[in-house]
Amino acid sequence: MKTRNPVQPLIRRHVEHVAEMERLLFDDPLTADDLTAICGQKSALSYSWTTTEYHAPVAYMLLEHGRTSLSLMRIGTHPDFQRKGHATDLIGQAIKLAAGRKQKYITAMVSESMLPAQLLLRSCGFRCTKTFNEYESTRSADVVCGSLLWFRYDVGQPYRHVPGIRERMQAGLTT
Ligand SMILES: CC(C)(COP(=O)(O)OP(=O)(O)OC[C@H]1O[C@@H](n2cnc3c(N)ncnc32)[C@H](O)[C@@H]1OP(=O)(O)O)[C@@H](O)C(=O)NCCC(=O)NCCS
Repeated sequence: MKTRNPVQPLIRRHVEHVAEMERLLFDDPLTADDLTAICGQKSALSYSWTTTEYHAPVAYMLLEHGRTSLSLMRIGTHPDFQRKGHATDLIGQAIKLAAGRKQKYITAMVSESMLPAQLLLRSCGFRCTKTFNEYESTRSADVVCGSLLWFRYDVGQPYRHVPGIRERMQAGLTT
């Protein structure tokens, strides 16, 4: 996978930009304090940045290293810069990191409602290997409120996804 945008480790100066993207993209955003704490840890937090817009980060990912696998904890692209290949570049970097550390897999957990994220992962060679129910507690019982999809990238043998008709229709690629 060819990297088009430079990917660099997060530096403290850019934490506020990333926190702003978290607020724009997620219902449960990480705060600047959370991100600063992560910056000081060994987990790798990286972003790709555009060379045209004030050298500010426009996409980022949060990774956690395990012994045999790398977890993609978070990935996000600023809404004004989506569909320009930034998230693909970040995943390309994650793949290089995993290969360099001889990790076998990269894993990611995505909610069923996050279709762009699912398509992104599939386009980068991930495949969905498990699904889990998400539960919500009510007064009387825990009820299923959605599904989580568990994606895996096999570093030695990446999956080649061919989008099906339903997926292409949902993505507006065909009618
Ligand atoms: C998912 C997300 C990170 C993708 O970022 P991006 O920088 O736009 O992704 P890319 O430009 O690298 O897209 C690569 C491919 O993924 C697929 N894709 C990404 N977004 C898509 C969308 N909205 N609709 C359809 N396909 C999409 C396409 O196949 C795309 O290739 P193409 O543009 O050549 O068709 C971004 O939409 C985002 O920040 N979403 C909100 C946060 C989120 O859901 N994060 C994931 C869970 S942690």
